[in-house]
This record gives sequence, structure tokens and C-alpha cells, in this order.
Amino acid sequence: MNEMNETYRERLLERTRTYAQEEMGRDSSGHDWQHTARVARTARLLAEREQADAFLCELAALVHDIADEKLNPSKEAGLDKVNTWLIENGAAEPDRLHVMDIIANMSYNGGHGGQLSTLEGRIVQDADRLDALGAVGIARTFAYSGWKGQLIFDPDLRPRDSMSQEQYRKQPSTAINHFYEKLLKLKTKMNTTAARELAEERHRYMEAFLAQFYRELGVENDWGT
Ligand code: ADP
Ligand code: NI
Repeated sequence: MNEMNETYRERLLERTRTYAQEEMGRDSSGHDWQHTARVARTARLLAEREQADAFLCELAALVHDIADEKLNPSKEAGLDKVNTWLIENGAAEPDRLHVMDIIANMSYNGGHGGQLSTLEGRIVQDADRLDALGAVGIARTFAYSGWKGQLIFDPDLRPRDSMSQEQYRKQPSTAINHFYEKLLKLKTKMNTTAARELAEERHRYMEAFLAQFYRELGVENDWGT
């Protein structure tokens, strides 16, 4: 890679870090700047292990939650904002289009999202999913739950997956139920080998956490973990 290219990449990453920090700094729904910084770091690590473009992975990771529906009037408005920012800050067109494709398509979407079309996209998605697992994932789940007004745990509220669609919509979830509805399933949804390896340890840690949680409560866990 030539020197000009290297300077362009470094400058754009530096500006994007500042932009993401400004945009994400005050969020308390689990999408704060520290989440973005962790995803960017993990994306770089995975890119090195999977021989992908580390610059693109980090760039997409830095902006991946700026367009989140929860933080914008709509998903489209959020995506427009990021797209405009990239144009105004000198992102090369192929880089901008690649990043926009990644962030528009990487969301969990109830586990039904399709496979992302590039290795870089699959890596950023893995990095984001890894941040929902392990000790960090547990912390984010309780933070998000509090933000949303959900209970920690209610023995009468079963994980919503075991219900009909109608019951599902009516019943609120809890932080503990979120493990069954999403977190414990993520291990099998990793795209890359490098991410699967990292997910394994984090998954076991969550299982141990749940076992200890039920032990302290003196309740039977019959939800099949
Ligand atoms: P991201 O877009 O970064 O993947 P999400 O917006 O899906 O994250 O969720 C942010 C964090 O809150 C994640 O750690 C996720 O597991 C957690 N979370 C999402 N939905 C719920 C929920 N209904 N109850 C508890 N935690 C949740
Ligand atoms: Ni995220």
C-alpha cells in the first residue's frame, strides 16, 4: 500500500473515532462509545486473524451504531446521516459504499438477517455480537433492561420463544429472559472461525452466571441451558 493511501486511512479513522465518540458518548442503552470502541478493537483483531481489510472493518465498526433506530427518527434518517458524514469527511466512494452496505445489513433482526456479502461485513457483525456475550454482554443486558424498564427476573415470565406470536407480543420480557431469547443462541451464529473461538469462552461464562443466579435464588432452572 502506498503512503498516501496509508495517510488517508489513518486520517479518516482518526476523524471517525472523534465523530463516533461525540455521537455515542451519552447513550445509556448499551450503545455508548465504549461499546463502539470495543467493537472496533475486536473487528480489527478478527480482521487480522481472518486476513480481511482491517481499515474497512474498523471504519464500519466505528459508525455501526450511529444509525441505530433507537437513536434516530428512523433507520433511513440514521443511515443518511452517516452517509453524508462520510462524504463530507473525504471517504473514498468504494469505502463509503462498502461501509454503508455493512451497517445497513448487519443488525440482528430477530436472528433472521441474511448472510452479509463481504468478509469485512461478516467480521463487523461478529465483533458486534461478541460484545453481547460474556461479562460485558451480561453487564450490557442489565443496563439495557433498566433503560427499558424491564425487571431483572420474574419466575412467572417464561422466555418468549416458547410462546405463540400473540402471547409473545403481550408479555414483557426480563433481563434473564433475554439470555434465552438471544444471547445463548449467538454462539452458533458467528460467521468466522476466529469469532467462534472467542464466543465459546464467553458463552460458558454466561451459562455459569445463570447457574449461579438460580442457585442464589434457590429456584430450579428448567429452561434447558
Ligand atoms: P447492538 O445493536 O449493539 O447489537 P442491541 O441494540 O441489540 O445491540 O442491544 C444492546 C444491548 O442490549 C445488547 O447487549 C443486547 O444483548 C441487550 N439487549 C437488547 N435487547 C434486550 C432486551 N429486550 N432485554 C435485555 N437486553 C437487551
Ligand atoms: Ni453495536
